Amino acid sequence: MFLPTLVSLFFLSSATVRASPCVAFDANWNLLAFGLNGKDWNAGTQDTWSSSTPATDITASNRPPFDAANTTCYLSQYANAIYAINADSKNPSSLYIYDAAAKSWSTQAVTAGSFDYTSFGAILDHDTNVFYALSQGNLFSLDMGLLKAANSTPLNWVNDEQVPYPSGYVPVMALAQNHIHFLDVPNVPAGSADIFVIHYSYFQPQPQAYPLSNGSAFPATYGQVTSFFQADNTVQQEFAFIPADSSATYIINVETNTTQALAAPTTKDSKATYFAGVTALVQLTSNGAVSYLPYLEGNTSTNVAATWATVSNLATAAPPSSSSSSSGSSGNASGSHSATSPSSTTTSGATLGASIQYSMLITCALCLAAFVV
Ligand SMILES: *[C@@H]1O[C@H](CO)[C@@H](O)[C@H](O)[C@H]1NC(C)=O
Ligand SMILES: *[C@@H]1O[C@H](CO)[C@@H](O)[C@H](O)[C@H]1NC(C)=O
Ligand SMILES: *[C@@H]1O[C@H](CO)[C@@H](O)[C@H](O)[C@H]1NC(C)=O
Ligand SMILES: *[C@@H]1O[C@H](CO)[C@@H](O)[C@H](O)[C@H]1NC(C)=O
Ligand SMILES: *[C@@H]1O[C@H](CO)[C@@H](O)[C@H](O)[C@H]1NC(C)=O
Repeated sequence: MFLPTLVSLFFLSSATVRASPCVAFDANWNLLAFGLNGKDWNAGTQDTWSSSTPATDITASNRPPFDAANTTCYLSQYANAIYAINADSKNPSSLYIYDAAAKSWSTQAVTAGSFDYTSFGAILDHDTNVFYALSQGNLFSLDMGLLKAANSTPLNWVNDEQVPYPSGYVPVMALAQNHIHFLDVPNVPAGSADIFVIHYSYFQPQPQAYPLSNGSAFPATYGQVTSFFQADNTVQQEFAFIPADSSATYIINVETNTTQALAAPTTKDSKATYFAGVTALVQLTSNGAVSYLPYLEGNTSTNVAATWATVSNLATAAPPSSSSSSSGSSGNASGSHSATSPSSTTTSGATLGASIQYSMLITCALCLAAFVV
């Protein structure tokens, strides 16, 4: 414990670390914002976001300082817990768990092994509650069980295998139907994704195409991805892809193998992060502004007409900083919470998910049945 702490203290004193807040939904579709102006907030469900009544302050003890770069948050839908990675610059391998029902935090120790916290993309699989991450050319997994509070036994990032993608590939990883969709893989055409089938640990050799209805394709470029949840707690079927230039919002449906192009984010910010719920896609910009695009699964005419709007009750509670997105101020290495500077730089497009041993059992039963037949 001692050596990593010294190393990270050295790192902190020698590098500019930019704090990053994150947004996430809980399993009741309350929008939560963590580390925004140094505090955590509950903006409630979508029907309350336009209210000028400030979001509720849910800052609680044992929370991480949200003082690290590239913080990412994930919803475990079955556990109704949020998992935060890279939320504490002094303890980069600690994973923080927010129990959304109990409104309490705990810290899960994780052994990183060769996993690189400064360079990875990750998803949390809905049906197994296992993180899958691509870091330095390898696929890692981290089994969260159904934790909504930390276990005293450390968990491990397990290095499962080398990925069959060119070295230097910067992961853009999205989850839908228990399949990881890798976008922007070199030599894969625009509009297509490479796929990893989680339940069979299988890298599909051929990319899958997801054309727009007019025959065009989403660009082969870096960007952010986030999966839409299902209200009935089944697997995600759609994910959003927002290219780094914020030129459009693409919704990829892996049931129909199609893509819809929706309104581009109003705020163009290559450092913005995104989190989808069931009926909204939320953007958090690098100066701490939160806005959303309403979304109705399967209702194309409503979706193409939808426009981005500010989450007003969060803006009232934690006003965004006026500094431009490219000039994020340095984080406070002391870990104290500045009330005035939410400037932050976020990256890493990771996603969400959650799950249950029950569906794992069903899946295994199905696998067995398939072998028996
Ligand atoms: C944050 O992410 C950026 C872009 O991926 C990367 O260059 C940087 O090293 C990361 N920083 C840390 C401290 O993880
Ligand atoms: C198809 O639709 C997309 C999204 O609206 C648009 O950007 C693109 O230019 C269109 N392509 C063609 C060939 O019409
Ligand atoms: C989508 O693509 C997959 C894989 O190629 C295929 O199995 C499936 O039948 C396709 N679905 C539709 C609705 O075309
Ligand atoms: C789409 O949404 C609109 C507005 O909520 C509604 O009036 C319409 O019936 C919906 N259409 C479909 C096909 O669900
Ligand atoms: C960090 O916070 C302390 C206490 O609030 C403050 O005195 C200091 O100026 C801050 N440093 C930076 C770099 O913001």
